[in-house]
Amino acid sequence: MQKEIYYPNPEFAKDARINSMEQYHQLMDEAKRDYEGYWKKFADEKIEWYKPYSKVLDESNAPFYKWFTDGKLNVSNQCIDRHLEKRGDQTAILFEGDRGDVEHISYKELSERVNRFANLLKEKFGIKKGDRVVLYMPMIPEAAYAMLACARIGAIHSIVFGGFSAEALKDRIIDAEAKLVITADGAYRKGKPYLLKPVVDQALSDGVDSVEAVLVVQRNREEINWVEGRDHNYNELIESFSTKCEPEMMDSEDPLFLLYTSGSTGKPKGVQHSTAGYILWAQMTMEWVFDLREGDVFWCTADIGWITGHTYIVYGPLAAGTTTVMFEGVVTYPDAGRAWKMIEQHGITQFYTAPTAIRLLHKMGADEPKKYDLSKVRVLGTVGEPIDPPAWKWYYEVVGRGKASIVDTWWQTETGGHMISPLPGATPIKPGSATFPLPGIMAEVIECDGSPTPVGEKGFLCITKPWPSMIRTIWGDPERFKKSYFGDCKKYGKPVYFSGDGAMVDEEGYITITGRTDDVINVSGHRIGTAEIESAIKKIDRVAVSAVVGKPHNIKGEGIFAYIVLKDANDDKEAIKEEINAVLKQEIGAIALCDEIVFVPDVPKTRSGKIMRRLLRSIAKGEPITQDTSTLEDPTVVDEIQKIVKEG
Ligand code: PRX
Repeated sequence: MQKEIYYPNPEFAKDARINSMEQYHQLMDEAKRDYEGYWKKFADEKIEWYKPYSKVLDESNAPFYKWFTDGKLNVSNQCIDRHLEKRGDQTAILFEGDRGDVEHISYKELSERVNRFANLLKEKFGIKKGDRVVLYMPMIPEAAYAMLACARIGAIHSIVFGGFSAEALKDRIIDAEAKLVITADGAYRKGKPYLLKPVVDQALSDGVDSVEAVLVVQRNREEINWVEGRDHNYNELIESFSTKCEPEMMDSEDPLFLLYTSGSTGKPKGVQHSTAGYILWAQMTMEWVFDLREGDVFWCTADIGWITGHTYIVYGPLAAGTTTVMFEGVVTYPDAGRAWKMIEQHGITQFYTAPTAIRLLHKMGADEPKKYDLSKVRVLGTVGEPIDPPAWKWYYEVVGRGKASIVDTWWQTETGGHMISPLPGATPIKPGSATFPLPGIMAEVIECDGSPTPVGEKGFLCITKPWPSMIRTIWGDPERFKKSYFGDCKKYGKPVYFSGDGAMVDEEGYITITGRTDDVINVSGHRIGTAEIESAIKKIDRVAVSAVVGKPHNIKGEGIFAYIVLKDANDDKEAIKEEINAVLKQEIGAIALCDEIVFVPDVPKTRSGKIMRRLLRSIAKGEPITQDTSTLEDPTVVDEIQKIVKEG
């Protein structure tokens, strides 16, 4: 299976934007020969500049790289205004609600709504360039309007995933010092209304000084609490604002948004993205990786609370002038046919989802896709976690009918857009491998000193040259930015970006991602730091020590496995299990719930007190222990833990 190679469908490749490996290599060679010239060509061709930039790449203050110095542009202009003449009546956002309600929003309508929204932010709330606005929103078109309205006036949005708890929301609001929170009363999920606004109320109940107002979009009109003077009703206000708002002249390097993500310490990092570099690569990858053509209808199933939703539901598709589908519900509701039915009904041409969803849909109905007409689909994408060859094969054969190209896209919140991915009309694919870096991206698998990792061995996946859509800094913590991503590797002359992922290269240069090299777990394609989970569990007084690791899970990719040492070994274990999950739900959200909790007398530590997580990962997986345990503070604990885990 691993050795099988799948070539692009020749009929499809014929008209593809990049239609051969020769063309791929030509682009790559161009970038290697004249890196700045390469990016200049695309920046000039793709971006509508108000004022041209004076320098392509400024490396003088590395790793705080700057792109397209002094250029002026506006992302909402790039995504909306410049399309109006040609695409005013084309659907920009095709919204489908959880209950099947459908709305087509044309580019013209999008323009009017975003402009009104921008005026509302400016005039009613005094939001100015550089102010931070937190969005805690369901998957409804108003979330996209809010993002683009912020971009239009130069406000920096920070979206917090709607599944995060009040505590997590509060931490992010405080870190960003947000002035305004935009939310909704709630939305619909699996046929039922749910509420979001109470979470905002709770987050703001104590200790948040920066927030002056809360703007509430009415989606399900359920009963919610209103705080007089603070809360404002979007639906009542919006119509009174003008549909014309001049876009702010933004500098290339002005921040476009913050997005918090997990790292290896307890505090999430506010990843800061720029204006010009980000939108350029969002648009280019959208066009190349999904081989975008006129008339396409593109569907990415992510939530706007994650980077995938930012880049491939809103910014990339709209910058590229296509029709993007936004879906409020879940692809498995009301049944395993929902996604396939939507693809048929809307004539979807590209479908982009996570391997977790593919495994689940496969399990729920292996033959279900055959009941629908999926013949318009040309490209099927995956993101967020490795796709195992059986899931890949089902996606390819049953969903793609052996005709659509599969693109396994590797990237991160920090990279802004795809980095390693097949090009659907060019790349011969080995299932399980993300294949090659995209043209212009210098990805290498290296050792700490920068030397290349030998073929077939695991090394660090690094990007050895800056790229336009890269993270600019961690909000408020430039030191952490340097420390988290840029090792001491001197070989390249400039700081090199360490992704935190391990990878392997085969003899033909195919890259296979082998997973995180730090203490981050990838649950259903979502990053969760073990330290974040442990610091939440620490709040339970009866727990002495907790150590959390990832364990392979047949649907979610990885599940959360917790080792708990109690202060009193005779404590009620079932009650503590419940308490642990309750505290995780409260501090982080439902995505952080533990799949397995085991109570152990102690955890293996080195003599200096460091928990040996590698050992704990092996024990959780039931693997034989090959590591040397003689240096442990108490080697006997390993046998004891193994026995407990085995006996369940
Ligand atoms: O470990 C890699 C995994 O997801 C991490 C990035 O997570 P996040 O910033 O939340 O962004 C997810 C969506 C881009 C990476 O460090 N990852 C992402 N894509 C893949 C992947 N692992 C394997 N294969 C992929 N295609």
